[in-house]
Amino acid sequence: ELGLYSHFMQKEIHEQPQAVAATAEVFLDGGFVPENFGSNAREVFQSINSIKILACGTSYYAALTAKYWLESIAKIPTDVEIASEYRYRDVIADPQQLVITISQSGETLDTMEALKYAQSLGHCHSLSVCNVMESALPRASSLVLYTRAGAEIGVASTKAFTTQLVVLFGLAVTLGKLRGHIDAEREHAHTEALRQLPGSIQHALNLEPQVAAWAQKFAQKSSALFLGRGIHYPIALEGALKLKEITYIHAEAYPAGELKHGPLALVDENMPIVVIAPNDALLDKVKANMQEVGARGGELFVFTDLDSHFEAAQGVHLIRTPRHTGALSPIIHSIPVQLLAYHAALARGTDVDKPRNLAKSVTVE
Ligand code: F6R
Repeated sequence: ELGLYSHFMQKEIHEQPQAVAATAEVFLDGGFVPENFGSNAREVFQSINSIKILACGTSYYAALTAKYWLESIAKIPTDVEIASEYRYRDVIADPQQLVITISQSGETLDTMEALKYAQSLGHCHSLSVCNVMESALPRASSLVLYTRAGAEIGVASTKAFTTQLVVLFGLAVTLGKLRGHIDAEREHAHTEALRQLPGSIQHALNLEPQVAAWAQKFAQKSSALFLGRGIHYPIALEGALKLKEITYIHAEAYPAGELKHGPLALVDENMPIVVIAPNDALLDKVKANMQEVGARGGELFVFTDLDSHFEAAQGVHLIRTPRHTGALSPIIHSIPVQLLAYHAALARGTDVDKPRNLAKSVTVE
């Protein structure tokens, strides 16, 4: 079943061009139409005033990324919450809010209970983004769109995450179009971006030898910091989670602008710092944040795309990711952080597919 691969995680990382292409097909063949999400989705999408996304772990980071798309492309106020927190607090119900749950397994207990709680409060519109057909969450939701990642066996989620992002991007474009925020030209640009995505992911996968060389250094460390800004901040969070889960190295992620409000105190020459820094509107801000770190002796490992005018320097290592892919850039930058964690785990000899203390599907509280 593993074929040429050593681990399911490695296989699943490399399956992402096909998994993403299969998931994107819904929008590429059928267009950005509400019916992709269910026969009554048009009516629901026209009536909602806001979105709440509930999820856990990596699926929660997909939700954080989606918030940027839903607000910038679809112009719908979107709020994201960890399911295990939502289910235990006093929530102000809003029947015009669409509640989205995101789950690879569709069986995560906290996410399921959060959905039931929302429904008990009178939230009637629910959408499930899920990878397992007919699992608990899609069965309990009025609308559903499945990711087509195929079975994910490695405990650390990889292809489920990037395919969730494809569905959520498609949702944002669908809502933006339906609600009159996207003209034909923009829609065409989004379609083309989605069409080219699998190829760009393949280019990112080709960086594996360079990323593996970095990973040897990380394997020696006891701690690492991940930085990003804007839509790349959730990818920094995901990178830190992947590293923690499979290497047991302590890792934290921060929006780079928060450094001086505390975490800068952690930085010295023993602290590797991963920066997700593609050429977007925030690049100059990120560069300034990097100088703050560099001045304290921190070693910087920067993922930046071909368009950014960055130079490697003393204490600054660069890997160039494929040419900037606009709104889909977070999907591309998921790949190198997955590879970094995978190769650091290999170097440390941990059980990559079955990290200690973790289960693939968390059906207990
Ligand atoms: C991380 C990971 C977990 C899951 C989380 C939610 O690599 O796999 O954080 O993302 O347990 O699981 P699902 O998506 O099945 O609800």
